[in-house]
Amino acid sequence: MKQTITDIRLNNKRVFVRADFNVPLNEKGQITDNTRIRKTLPTIQYLLERGSAVILASHLGRPKGEVKPEFSLRPVAEALTELLGVPVKLAPDCVGEVVKQMARELKSGEVLLLENLRYHKEEEKNDPAFAKALAELADVGINDAFGCSHRAHASVAGITEFLPMAAGFLLEKEIRFIGGAVNHPEHPFAAIIGGAKVSDKIEVISNLLPKVDVMIIGGGMANTFLAAKGLGIGKSLVETDKLELAASLMEKAAEEHTELLLPVDVVVASEFAPDSPFKETDVTDVPADWMILDIGTKSRKLFADKLQAMRLIVWNGPMGVFEMEHFAGGTEAVAKAVAEASAVSIVGGGDSVAAVNKAGLADRITHISTGGGASLEYLEGKTLPGIAALRDK
Ligand code: 3PG
Repeated sequence: MKQTITDIRLNNKRVFVRADFNVPLNEKGQITDNTRIRKTLPTIQYLLERGSAVILASHLGRPKGEVKPEFSLRPVAEALTELLGVPVKLAPDCVGEVVKQMARELKSGEVLLLENLRYHKEEEKNDPAFAKALAELADVGINDAFGCSHRAHASVAGITEFLPMAAGFLLEKEIRFIGGAVNHPEHPFAAIIGGAKVSDKIEVISNLLPKVDVMIIGGGMANTFLAAKGLGIGKSLVETDKLELAASLMEKAAEEHTELLLPVDVVVASEFAPDSPFKETDVTDVPADWMILDIGTKSRKLFADKLQAMRLIVWNGPMGVFEMEHFAGGTEAVAKAVAEASAVSIVGGGDSVAAVNKAGLADRITHISTGGGASLEYLEGKTLPGIAALRDK
């Protein structure tokens, strides 16, 4: 068990909080989705209530060690000021004399946001001197940046050599739900894995296969499984170098008595285009010059029925070309089925989360992960450096 924010003394301390404020911005530099900021508020508010002086740190985008104004955390400082109802000062940098002085002068109940950590190449290099300089700004450290916990970067990993870190409320919740599903799941347990390529999800499937009762596979990667079963899939996306792997995963599922469900019908289109002609067909009848772009009505019902009896569901990856309206129905149906199931439901990955939000179902999902790459690596069973580096209880 790792230490969490409630295990440490915080009163009147200067607290360094690594958050993941890597939020999407539009071309005007406005935040288009503030979920990651909102999800960190409980940690910041808890610290403020205890009289801490809060020093927030994050990266934004990939400026690759250069100061690029379009990656400034200024919009985040403004959003935080509004959401917290207290002024959040933006430091001109994240290390250096000026920042040190600002941190020193920060009073109890005040918040300082450091400028983009990735303006320094030392951040991604996990440079010890840079990690030490960050650590010296505070007395105590909190990591609430689940989305970055798969990165062995200075503010996530290296810093813990100089400033012991405990998990914030968000990171603790991600560990409890995703870690719980991977390490001691409730049964019956279903995983729904989608997305374009088997190669992106192979490690998730391999890690979860022995743990789940039902594995549902959809999205472009289901084509490789269908092809491995000898079905004609027309001109659909397929990874020919992964056919044997798909076949061996199906064999493994059979050996372990894991039910592996593939689509039984699909939506096919003649072109990969939003306005392409399209129709539904059984997987046994895919026309040679058409391509599979979504799961069909029967598959949606099959998957939804199966999910009703589950006590735990993990979903990562869309069922079809979700960004095109005509091929979004399968992903939407799965979002609805996951929300309606009485199971503990965990959703991760940009497209699945977007589908849940678009359908207005977010409130009915037990846990929506704030991590993209991080949630995937966690589901793969990997040790995440940001979690491993936290102090044990
Ligand atoms: C994310 O958006 O997944 C995290 O903030 C990590 O960002 P990165 O992939 O640029 O390291």
